[in-house]
Amino acid sequence: MSDLFSFEQSWQKEVDRQLQARGERKGTFQTSSNIEVERLYTPEAMEEDYMKKIGYPGEYPFTRGIRHTMYRGRLWTMRQYAGFGSAKETNERFRYLLEQGQTGLSVAFDLPTQIGYDSDDPMALGEVGKVGVAIDSLEDMEVLFHEIPLDRVSTSMTINAPAAVLLAMYLVVAEKQGVPWEKVSGTIQNDILKEYIARGTHIYPPKPSMRLITDIFSFCSDHVPSFNTISISGYHIREAGATAVQELAFTLANAKAYVDAAIDVGLDVDRFAPRLAFFFNGHNYFFEEIAKFRAARRMWAKMMREEYGAKNPKSWQLRFHTQVAGSTLTAQQPDNNIVRVALQALAAVMGGTQSLHTNAKDEALGLPTEESARIALRTQQLIAHETGVADTIDPLAGSYYLETLTDQVEEKAHEYLAEIDSLGGAVAAVENGYMQREIQKSAYETQRNIESEEEIVVGVNKFAMEEEPEQDVLKVDDSFIAEQHEQLEHLRKNRSQNDVDHCLQALKEAANGHENLMPPIIEAVKKGCTVGEICHVLRSEFGEYV
Ligand code: 3HC
Repeated sequence: MSDLFSFEQSWQKEVDRQLQARGERKGTFQTSSNIEVERLYTPEAMEEDYMKKIGYPGEYPFTRGIRHTMYRGRLWTMRQYAGFGSAKETNERFRYLLEQGQTGLSVAFDLPTQIGYDSDDPMALGEVGKVGVAIDSLEDMEVLFHEIPLDRVSTSMTINAPAAVLLAMYLVVAEKQGVPWEKVSGTIQNDILKEYIARGTHIYPPKPSMRLITDIFSFCSDHVPSFNTISISGYHIREAGATAVQELAFTLANAKAYVDAAIDVGLDVDRFAPRLAFFFNGHNYFFEEIAKFRAARRMWAKMMREEYGAKNPKSWQLRFHTQVAGSTLTAQQPDNNIVRVALQALAAVMGGTQSLHTNAKDEALGLPTEESARIALRTQQLIAHETGVADTIDPLAGSYYLETLTDQVEEKAHEYLAEIDSLGGAVAAVENGYMQREIQKSAYETQRNIESEEEIVVGVNKFAMEEEPEQDVLKVDDSFIAEQHEQLEHLRKNRSQNDVDHCLQALKEAANGHENLMPPIIEAVKKGCTVGEICHVLRSEFGEYV
C-alpha cells in the first residue's frame, strides 16, 4: 500500500499543478441525485470484504443479478411497448414486432381504456386509440391477440385502475384459445400509488384501489400462478422529474405499501411476493443507473428477508423491466435519440434488467413509425449479440467507482425511506403530497440546470442546428379518425347484443361486500360487459379519487 500511497502523492501533485494551470470543466461533478463524483476512485474506496457485501448472482442479496447464470442462461426479454388505434391495427404491429425478433409483448392502452371509459363516452372524445389501443369489449381483446398463442408469449399490460377488468378479459381470451390459466404468463402493471404520485390514470380512492390490487394478488396466486400481479413502477416517477435515488426510494416505499396491504388482508408473504415485479427507468447518467439497479436488488432482498420474514428466495428477488427514458428524447435532431437510447439500454443490461423496452427515435414527435420501432428493437439485438456484455454476469462489479456509487445510492435511498416511514408510509406520504413535492423540487432544479447549460442536452441547448432535418412522423390521419368511427360502430353492436344488467348488478353487490372481485368481473366480461360499464359500477360504489 505504501507504493500506492507514493503513486497517489505524485499523481495528486501533478493534478494540483494542472488545476492551477487550466482547472476542470466544472467546479463539481455530480450524478442526477447530486451525489458528488470524485475525480478518481482507487482500491482505498473498497471495503475489505466487498465480495461478501455484493454476494453472487442468483444468491442473496442478489446485488450482481437475480439468476445464477443471468443472460448466459437466457437473454432479457425484448419487450417493446406498443399500441395505437384499433385492436386490429395493434395486432398487426404486435405480429410485426414478433416477426422481427421481439420476445415479449407489452400493450399500450389508450387513455379512455386506462381510466375506465368506453370509446363512446363523452370523456373519450378525441382520445380513442390515440396514445394506445382502444379496448372496450372482450371481442376487442380477442382481436388484439388474434393468432398470438397466449401459452407461448408473455404479455405485459400497462393498465392500473381498470387492471382487474383487462386481466379478466385476457384470461377469458386465453380460455377461448384453450390455454389453461396455469400456462398464462405476463404482467399487469396494477400499481395505483404511482398513478397518484406521477402518472394520473387513477379512478378510485386509495382504499378500494388497494382492495382491487390485493384481490388480483390473491386470485392469481390461486389460479394464474405464472402471472406477475403488479409491476411496481419507478419509471413514471423518474419521468416526472425525480432523481435516480428518489425513483428507487419512492418505488420501494410503494412496494412496501403493497406488501403491507396484502399481509393486512391475510395473505402470506411467500404466497404473493414471488410474483411482485418492478419497472424502472433507464436514464442518462450511465454509472448511476447501473448502481441504482444493483442497489435496488440488494435493498429489496434485505427488506423481504429481514423486515417481512419472507422465507422463499423467490420472494427476495427483485425482477424488473426497464424502459429507457422517454423524457430524454429530443424533437431536435431525432437521430441523436438512437444513440441516447443505445447508451441507456446498455446501462440497463449492465445493470441486469429482466425485460427491456427501447424507445424509438421519433417518439418526441409522435407515435413510432414501423422503421423507428424496428431500429429500437435492433438496438437491443445489437447489444445482446454483438457487444459481448451479455456473456458474463455483472461485468462492472469491482469497479471502485461503481461499488462506491452502489453503496451511496443505497444509503441515500434509505434516507428517503426513513422519511416516508416517519410520515406513516407511502399511502400517507402520497396523501400529504410529500413525494410529489420532492419530485417537483428535483424537476425544477433539472430544468434550471438545463437553462443555465449546467446540464447539456445535445442538439437542444448546445450543438443546436439552425435548420432541422426533415422527419417522417406517423401522422394521426383520416384513416385513424375513420378507425374511431368503426370502433364506435363495433361498440354499439356489442351493446345491443348483450343483456348486461344482471351481471352488473351482481358486481355492484360484490363491491359492497368483502369477496374477491375478480370472479364477478370475469363473469361480467364473459357476459359482454364493457370496460366502461364495469368501471362505472365500481365508480358508483367506490367513488372517485380527486
Ligand atoms: N436461468 C433460469 N431461468 C431463467 C433465466 C436464467 N438465467 N432467465 C430467465 N429465466 C426464466 C425465469 O425464471 C422466468 O420463468 P418464471 O416466470 O417461471 O420465473 C422466465 O425465464 C422469464 O424470465 P423473466 O421472468 O425474467 O422475464 P419476463 O420478461 O417474463 O418477466 C418481469 C420480466 C420484469 C418479471 C415482468 O414483470 C415483465 O415482463 N415486466 C414488463 C413490464 C412492462 O413491459 N411494462 C411496460 C410499461 S410501459 C409504461 O408504463 C410506460 C408508459 O406509461 C409510457
